[in-house]
Amino acid sequence: MTLVALEQVTKTYGTPGAADARTVLEGADLSIAAGAMEAIVGPSGCGKSTALNLLGALDVPSAGRVLFQGQDLAGLDPAALAAFRSRHVGFIFQDHHLLPQCTVRENVLLPTLAGGGRADAAAIERADTLLGRVGLGDRATDWPHHLSGGERQRVAVVRALINRPELVLADEPTGALDERTADELATLLIDLNRAEGTTLVVVTHQKELAARMERVHTVHDGRFQAA
Ligand SMILES: Nc1ncnc2c1ncn2[C@@H]1O[C@H](COP(=O)(O)OP(=O)(O)OP(=O)(O)O)[C@@H](O)[C@H]1O
Ligand SMILES: [Mg+2]
Repeated sequence: MTLVALEQVTKTYGTPGAADARTVLEGADLSIAAGAMEAIVGPSGCGKSTALNLLGALDVPSAGRVLFQGQDLAGLDPAALAAFRSRHVGFIFQDHHLLPQCTVRENVLLPTLAGGGRADAAAIERADTLLGRVGLGDRATDWPHHLSGGERQRVAVVRALINRPELVLADEPTGALDERTADELATLLIDLNRAEGTTLVVVTHQKELAARMERVHTVHDGRFQAA
C-alpha cells in the first residue's frame, strides 16, 4: 500500500513566467510504500528539501497532486493541514529549530502538546527513553545553547519521533555528526521502522546512510530516478 505519493508534481518558486521563477520539480512522480525506508539523494539545489516539504504538506505543488493514503492534500484547509502534520508526520529539518527557552526534554515534548497543557507521563517516559537511545539521557534538563550542533540535531530527531508518526521525513539527519554517532542515529531510525512500522524518507549526502535504506531515488532534471 502506498502511504504517500507525489503525482506529476511541478514546483516552481517565484511567479511562473517571471524572471525570478525557478522550476525545481517538473512532472515528478514518487511513491513511498507504507513501512518503507527510502532515501532521496542528489546534488545541492536539485530539490530534495522541496520534495520533503511537499511530502509532509509543509508546502503545496504548483501543479500535480500530493496523496496521503490516497487522499489529495489539496482538499485540506490550513488548519486541517496543521492537524494532519501533527498527527501523521515527524520532520527532522536540515536546520533543527529548537526553542532556546525550553529545555531539551521540553523541546522533545512540544509536539505532544498540540492542545496545550502538560505532557503526560507516557510521553515523558518515551522522551527520556529516546534521549537515552541517542546518548543524551543525562541532558534532558539542559538548555539547547549548552549543546553542540550534533547534540541539538539528535534532540530534533527525538522530537520528530515523539508522537509515533507514521511518516518520518528526515533532511540530512546525520549531516553534523561524526561517523559513529551518525551510525547510531541511523540505527535508531531503522529500529523504529522495524519496531513501529514508521515509514522513513531520508535526504542525505552520506552514502553510508543511503546504502542502509531499501530504495534510493535520485533527483535529476526535476524528476525522481531509481539510483
Ligand atoms: N522558498 C524558496 N524560494 C525561492 N527559491 C527556492 C525556495 N526554496 C528553495 N528554492 C530553490 O529551489 C532549489 C532547490 O532547493 P532545495 O532546498 O529543494 O534543494 P536541496 O536539494 O535540498 O539542496 P541542499 O542539498 O543544498 O539542501 C534551489 O535552487 C533553491 O535556491
Ligand atoms: Mg536541502
